[in-house]
Amino acid sequence: MTRRILVLNGPNLNLLGTREPEIYGSTTLADVERLCAQEARRHGLEVTCVQSNHEGGLVDALHEAGAAGDVVGVVLNAAAYTHTSVAVLDAVKAVRLPVVEVHLSNPHAREPFRHHSFLSPVAEAVVAGAGADGYRWAVELLATRHGG
Ligand code: DQA
Repeated sequence: MTRRILVLNGPNLNLLGTREPEIYGSTTLADVERLCAQEARRHGLEVTCVQSNHEGGLVDALHEAGAAGDVVGVVLNAAAYTHTSVAVLDAVKAVRLPVVEVHLSNPHAREPFRHHSFLSPVAEAVVAGAGADGYRWAVELLATRHGG
């Protein structure tokens, strides 16, 4: 059984490529997911990619990953729910999978309401401001530490 990394993206990230390109760049979500799959393959792993605009969709995807038994970790860009969601925080704590929190932009260089993350205290690592490369590094980190 090939083990997997869950690449989980939150609200509005389905619009990557056209959404505020001056902040998020021109890379689409499909590009990001392809990059993650390529990086995972290099380490003998697969990815499952999920995007949801709904808080509960992110919670459900985390639960499924936790129950599956073949998921080694989660690359999580919870987007705006990063800054608001106790439910996503609780789901991350409940499933006990290593999570790398990723942001395309650097939220700390933006509006004050983006400076707090509910998820960072329970993330194994945080990558912010590196654009799509951040996802690749997150996959590499999870594969290196947990995919062996
Ligand atoms: C984001 C940063 C968040 O503040 C924002 O709400 C997003 C995207 C990022 O990838 O830079 O939707 O998570």
